[in-house]
Amino acid sequence: METIIEKISTIVEDAFEQCGYDRKYGKAGISNRPDLCQFQCNGSLASAKEYHKAPIAIANEVCEKLSANSSFSKVEAVAPGFLNINLADDFLAKHLNEMAGDEKFGLEAVKPLKIIVDYGGPNVAKPLHVGHLRAAIIGESVKRICRFMGHEVIGDVHLGDWGLQMGLIITELRYRSCDLPYFDESFTGEYPADPPFTLSELEEIYPAASAKSKEDEAFKEEALLATKQLQAGHRGYRALWQHIMNVSVPDLKKNYADLSVDFDWWKGESSVDGLIPQMVDDMKAGGFAYESEGALVVDVAKEDDTKEIPPCMILKSDGASLYTTTDLATLRDRRDTFDPDRVIYVVDKRQEMHFIQVFRAAEKCGIVREGTVLDFLGFGTMNGKDGKPFKTREGGVMRLEVLIDDIRKTMLQKITDNHETDPAEAEQTSKTVALAAIKYGDLSNQATKDYVFDIDKFTSFEGNTGPYILYTIVRIKSILNKYAASQKSDKLPKALGPAANEYERALMLALTKFSQTITAAYDEIAPHRICAYIYDVCNEFNRFYHETRILVEEDENKKKGWIALLLLTRRILEQCIDLLGFTAPEKM
Ligand code: ARG
Repeated sequence: METIIEKISTIVEDAFEQCGYDRKYGKAGISNRPDLCQFQCNGSLASAKEYHKAPIAIANEVCEKLSANSSFSKVEAVAPGFLNINLADDFLAKHLNEMAGDEKFGLEAVKPLKIIVDYGGPNVAKPLHVGHLRAAIIGESVKRICRFMGHEVIGDVHLGDWGLQMGLIITELRYRSCDLPYFDESFTGEYPADPPFTLSELEEIYPAASAKSKEDEAFKEEALLATKQLQAGHRGYRALWQHIMNVSVPDLKKNYADLSVDFDWWKGESSVDGLIPQMVDDMKAGGFAYESEGALVVDVAKEDDTKEIPPCMILKSDGASLYTTTDLATLRDRRDTFDPDRVIYVVDKRQEMHFIQVFRAAEKCGIVREGTVLDFLGFGTMNGKDGKPFKTREGGVMRLEVLIDDIRKTMLQKITDNHETDPAEAEQTSKTVALAAIKYGDLSNQATKDYVFDIDKFTSFEGNTGPYILYTIVRIKSILNKYAASQKSDKLPKALGPAANEYERALMLALTKFSQTITAAYDEIAPHRICAYIYDVCNEFNRFYHETRILVEEDENKKKGWIALLLLTRRILEQCIDLLGFTAPEKM
């Protein structure tokens, strides 16, 4: 289905042609003076040079032609040569009815690509903290947007499960319980099926080990050795590693499920360990990787680099693999198993250099197929109101579960203050609204920028917030339910009529921007585009709602048209919040 801009452009292009000008000058766009007109075409200005005429003369001729066109209610040529256009209400209503009849509200199908979105990136054995929140929220939305565009999309969590943190835990455990069979080199029997630690013990072991390694050089050396031995296949360490995974991964899954974030693949750095030797051999054989100070590296600098891009390290001098190695092997694995056209990494922007190196090495060494697009969406830091990275009141690292629960409690308080509700229902609603508050608070900012996590602002029912969006949807649902009850039928009218007032017209115009919004959100990997769109739609809806007495309207036809408009508004808003990764409650 054509967008409204395309439809308008065709009409204006025809008029340019009929007046003897090239049709390319007839492109229309949304007006940047909405107080004057809805759409505009500036082609007369551009064409003046070619035809040696004053732009306003050309604009006047085209305007004359267009004034007879029933699609427009008003066309004006204004100095120095703009065409200001307003649509006929019938034309606008017809367009919205077409949108309403389309499953994707007019979004055109694209050539489907195979896309992997790599997001989440939690580290096993460490509790999720707010640093992981942005990856989860933004990545989930990016995945859903890609999928809605019609692409075949895989979300991969890419667990951090193969690096130094594993060696640290193993080493610390050895100090604490050296009599465990995992540390007995002569042990050949079956290792115990039960893990030698609980989740909370595990979560205590890691920070303790990490702190120790910063003070105690010998301890760190041992941890590095343990990491290397684990990777080399040490039997006891592999068994311990499996215990760590078994204890940690189900907890991660639960945490992500609470966030409505889900992954198609639960692969990790460890999953590709077996691919590393062959990959390294190929990199050497191709003449790409060479030894430098004992380590194996690939040069990735380019002549026109404006900053220094150091060589990409593939193996450390002790032969251990690194973060880059597993990321490269993962690209190889993804090519072998899924053959993606595009891979989008949603990771903290402080890792940009790592991804420049990985992408360049992957392309140079032929690890990815030619033409594979590798994108890095580096997100900014989530700060507290003091402008520093978000912490607990005591200054510690804030656990994600705690943060979510704080917001949920704030929401519950507000909901129960608002009106009386059944406690169980209020509990459920507070979860739904809290999730929207958190996700919208994040996604409404451009991902690459730092933002301030402001609980008071995010949980407010007013302003550009998740609760405001949900409140608007709930308001629409309630009107639709009342209408259905009055008709004693669930069947709602579907045909919109021509706008009856300026507020209705403004809402209809706002809705027409759906497909261009989604396309821009995909092209720019920018969920904040969708937030800006729904905020606009909600504002226009609320203005319309305050100015129009919908349910008591006596003209049945008018009322039916309004109900159809509400229905379309609700469907579009619900589609959009689904793309952002949250849902609306029935009541709030
Ligand atoms: N585990 C990493 C970290 O916490 C993030 C992983 C991002 N994804 C990737 N393919 N490297 O920093």
